[in-house]
Amino acid sequence: MPGYLVDDTRKVTTHRLKEMKEQGKKIAMLTSYDYTTAKIVDEAGVDIILVGDSASNVMAGNHTTLPITLDQMIYHARSVVRGVKRALVVCDMPFGTYQVNPVEGVRNAIRIMQETGCDAVKLEGGVEILDTVRKILDAGIPVMGHLGLTPQSINKFGTYAVRAREDAEAARLLSDAAALAEAGCFGIVLEKIPAALTQKVVESVDVPIIGIGGGPADGQVLVIDDMLGKNKDFSPKFLRRYADLHTVMLDAIGQYVTDVKSCDFPNAQEQY
Ligand code: KIV
Repeated sequence: MPGYLVDDTRKVTTHRLKEMKEQGKKIAMLTSYDYTTAKIVDEAGVDIILVGDSASNVMAGNHTTLPITLDQMIYHARSVVRGVKRALVVCDMPFGTYQVNPVEGVRNAIRIMQETGCDAVKLEGGVEILDTVRKILDAGIPVMGHLGLTPQSINKFGTYAVRAREDAEAARLLSDAAALAEAGCFGIVLEKIPAALTQKVVESVDVPIIGIGGGPADGQVLVIDDMLGKNKDFSPKFLRRYADLHTVMLDAIGQYVTDVKSCDFPNAQEQY
C-alpha cells in the first residue's frame, strides 16, 4: 500500500496528472536511478519517478549531465521500472539524442520506450525542439517538457544561476511553455526561475507544471540523493534536506569496518 497522503492507489497516468491539476491536488515527483531506491520511492507514494540524466552527476560523478549516453540511461530506466508499481516513470532523453533532427529524436524515444518499459520521456527546450516533440507525440509517446535552467545547455549559459530574471527571457519562457502545452506535452518541469514567473506559467497553461527551484507550482521535483542528504557538497537555496544519509551511511560503514577489524563480525550467530 503506497504511503503518505495517497488517496488513489491506481497506476498514475498522464490523464490522472491532468485531473490532479484541475482538482488542485499537488504532484510529488522525485528522481531514481536504480531498482531498490525506486521501489522505496514508489512505496512512499511519489506520483512521478524521473530517471533523470542527473544520473550523470550523482551516479557517475561527472560535472555535467552531458556525458551520459542513451545506453546508460536505458540501463538506469529499465532498473527503475522493475521496482515501480504505481508511479508514472519518465526517462530523460540524454544530450545529443534529440537535438540533431526530429527523425533521430523519435527513433531514440522509441528505443527508450521499447527497451525500458517506462511511461514517458522528458526533453529540454522550447520552440527550437518543437518539431521533434510533435514527432515523438505522433509516435504515441507521452512527452514532458523542461524549461528554465536546462542543464544540457550549461555550456551555453555558462552558469547555474537563476534563469529568466530579465523580461525578454521570461516572455520567451512563457511562449515556450504555451507551445509545449499546445503541442500536447503532458507536463513541464520549470527549473530555477523566479517564483512569480512560475505562477504565471501555472495559470496560463492547462498541463501540470512541476517546479525545482521555481517556487510553488502544480508539483515539485527534487534529485533524490540531494534531498536525502547523501551529498554534502550541493546546497542550493531551493533544496530541502529530508535526511542526513551522508552521516547515517558514514556511521554505519565506519561501524562495519571497526567490527570486521576487531573480529566482532561475523559472530557465532552470523555463520553456518
Ligand atoms: O535530471 C534531472 O534530475 C532533472 C531534474 C532536475 C528535473 O532533470
